[in-house]
Amino acid sequence: MGIKKEIKRPRGTRDFTPEEMERREHVENLIKSVIESYNYRRILTPTFEHSELFELKSGEEIREHMYVFEDKSGRKLCLRPEATASICRMFAQTLRKERLPLRLYYSYPMFRYERPQKGRYREFWQIGIELIGSERPEADAEVIDIAVNSLKRIDLNFILEIGHMGILREFMKELGIRDDIQPHLITLIDKGDLDKVGRIVDNKKFLELIQLNGHMDVLDDAEALLDEYKRALESLENLRSILYWLKILDIDYRINLGIGRGIEYYTGMVFEIRIPELGAQSQVCGGGRYDNLIELFSGIRVPASGFAFGFDRIMDAVELQGIDIPEKRVDVVIAPTNQNMREDALKIASHLREYLSVDIDVMNRKLGKILEYADEINARFVIIVGPEDIREESVTIRNMDTGEQRRIEIKEIMNFIQ
Ligand code: HAM
Repeated sequence: MGIKKEIKRPRGTRDFTPEEMERREHVENLIKSVIESYNYRRILTPTFEHSELFELKSGEEIREHMYVFEDKSGRKLCLRPEATASICRMFAQTLRKERLPLRLYYSYPMFRYERPQKGRYREFWQIGIELIGSERPEADAEVIDIAVNSLKRIDLNFILEIGHMGILREFMKELGIRDDIQPHLITLIDKGDLDKVGRIVDNKKFLELIQLNGHMDVLDDAEALLDEYKRALESLENLRSILYWLKILDIDYRINLGIGRGIEYYTGMVFEIRIPELGAQSQVCGGGRYDNLIELFSGIRVPASGFAFGFDRIMDAVELQGIDIPEKRVDVVIAPTNQNMREDALKIASHLREYLSVDIDVMNRKLGKILEYADEINARFVIIVGPEDIREESVTIRNMDTGEQRRIEIKEIMNFIQ
């Protein structure tokens, strides 16, 4: 017996088996194909950044959960907890001369030091988009449209809720709530802790507003509540025009003016998508408009809007809603009948690999064992390469689904396997 040292993976991280990766990739590709069909282009930003990047504007929720460390030169770095701040930094540093609007997307892991539970991990994947350069409601509508259509492409059922940070912020300003208290208050609103909110803001209209939840008529109720608060009303008009575009796009939504989002940089429309079957961690997507974040890094005001999917939660929802994902199968297992046939078998394999996935024995197994193996890994076809076949420039091919087996010429293989 060798010496065994047991090392487990860190808390809040996961290993993904080949089967799981195939399922994840299939779903990821569906989302990517939707995003790319709107002309978004993929980018990559560093896995770690200066901590300051996220400390500035990402808010309490993210700040508290950052993986911060010092490198050997004493720089304070952190593993990225989200990508929007990184992309704004990238815009200021690398993309500021590009023609606007810029349509960018990413698909990679984020890191948050949270208490792990179902649907909440310390390393988790996001797929997100950022639409940079437009302050128009059409841009917000496009962002929501992409989120909705991605989930529809997967065949998921979900609930879309839309709010507006401008309304909350302007209302708070008019009520005289200090700037430094606002982020904390928004976090409390987001958590639905109305008792605490009520202790800070003693205003009935405000408390009613954040509990409004419904369809288009909610906006009239909001208007009645807001009539004295001019600037908040302007934000409401802005939300109205976003909803106008969403109606054109035929999107079913609910308005929820109590959406606070845990992140500080939002300035306008915000939205969340939930899948109730997921239980406590039901939010699969969050996003909104952030018109001041790029300015913080670049000095120029560039409006932007975007969202991120929690990809792991989407995968859980795919499972829970019983969505069928086609199993990935190897096309061919090549089975030489004896050692002397190996060279021919290898030649056929390398030829077929131009078109198909091909597995060949590397264990020096006998024919019977190779057939068993092909059956177990669920191969589509087995190609048996024996001396008599080769003499006639042929092979014996077996369809593993039907059991049908016959001899065909090597040059006919591709016609047989479709
Ligand atoms: P966020 O709401 O913090 O937004 O994260 C987006 C999604 O990531 C959440 O809705 C959730 O599904 C998933 N998520 C968050 N934390 C975890 C976790 N610990 N484990 C598993 N999934 C998690 C953002 O990050 C913004 N950057 C989105 C955005 C892009 N806004 C504008 N552009």
